[in-house]
Amino acid sequence: MIVPTYNERGNLDELVRRITGSCSGAGIDVQIVIVDDNSPDGTGGNAEQLAKAHNIKVIHRAGKLGLSSAVIEGFRAASGDILVVMDADLSHPPETIPAMVSKIASGEADVVVGSRYIEGGGVENWPLHRRLISKVATLFARPLTKIKDPMSGYFALKRSVIDGVTLDPVGYKIGLEVIVKGHVSKVVEVPIHFANRKSGKSKLGGLEMIKYLDHVTRLYESKRFWLAKYLKFSIVGGTGAIINLAIFWGLLEMGNIEYHIAAGIAFVVADTNNFIWNRLWTFRSKEKLHFQYFQFLFVSFCGFWINQGLLTLLIDYAMPGMGVLQDAASFYKVLSQVIAIFLVSLFNFAANSLWTFSPDVKKRT
Ligand code: GDD
Ligand code: MN
Repeated sequence: MIVPTYNERGNLDELVRRITGSCSGAGIDVQIVIVDDNSPDGTGGNAEQLAKAHNIKVIHRAGKLGLSSAVIEGFRAASGDILVVMDADLSHPPETIPAMVSKIASGEADVVVGSRYIEGGGVENWPLHRRLISKVATLFARPLTKIKDPMSGYFALKRSVIDGVTLDPVGYKIGLEVIVKGHVSKVVEVPIHFANRKSGKSKLGGLEMIKYLDHVTRLYESKRFWLAKYLKFSIVGGTGAIINLAIFWGLLEMGNIEYHIAAGIAFVVADTNNFIWNRLWTFRSKEKLHFQYFQFLFVSFCGFWINQGLLTLLIDYAMPGMGVLQDAASFYKVLSQVIAIFLVSLFNFAANSLWTFSPDVKKRT
């Protein structure tokens, strides 16, 4: 059992009593690994006390280094072949351990998740906003795994699942990290009732939600989901369009600037913005800057001419078949532009992935 703790002094006695009770009832030989981050409330000392009477290994770390890295240290320190991770605050019922462990021992599963969102599971009177946040976060993980509760912090795994796997300790969702990156072929969920913590308070703040978004996009990329990259690329393109229009408008308002020149300046500034964000965020590039920047500008420039060509093609050649109504005609032109912009974004994305940022893309796939 891997139990990360930070200020859980008031929960440890009951936790250990219930874990050992549950395991001895099922004939499971259990070792508890408590990974404490020098909790100011003295959880570490309390754990040492308990270790005198039980099979407990206590790992003391220098300070609050994060939940996921604590769990990863616990994996290394534990001696068993079946690893179970659970919170110390008694939100996760230790009584479920035998059901989870037996599914791994029997070979029915490589990973077993204590699940709130399958039949028989649930949460204890959570306010609407907490339910909502949990559901939305679960949706983001949907393309990565089909299980109903990928956010769960209560899970069991066969040690071989993480043999030779480098786990990234980003954020809170170490279970999801294990499911996505580990050698996993069978994940099974077991219903749990998630109780409110017995004492102390949650360490999950607003920053964790942002870290979670970073974590899932990294996981998408580790699965080579081009879609995730394309989505980022499109978001950047959208901000660029807004900047482009704002500068274009601003320059025209200043007066006596010819509109082609204004458009040219707006294009270069907006495209520089797009370059910076795509370099830092979409492609996380570590390559040299200067040449890359001109490659990016060049791709956008080609994209612009492709856009013009597509418009001509769609409007002048495909339109005659569209009828002669004036309204329909301008609607059709806008529609043509929407299609053209979409196709150009695909071209820009492909060209930048395969050329501008190709060393970065190759390194990561
Ligand atoms: N060592 C260490 N270091 N332990 C930590 C740290 C840390 O930096 N931060 C949190 N912990 C421990 C807590 O002491 C607790 O035992 C466990 O990790 C979970 O922390 P909580 O603060 O109780 O998290 P939560 O209740 O908000 O979130 C739980 O439920 C979520 C589902 O809604 C966790 O299980 C999440 O993983 C889970 O997604
Ligand atoms: Mn909790």
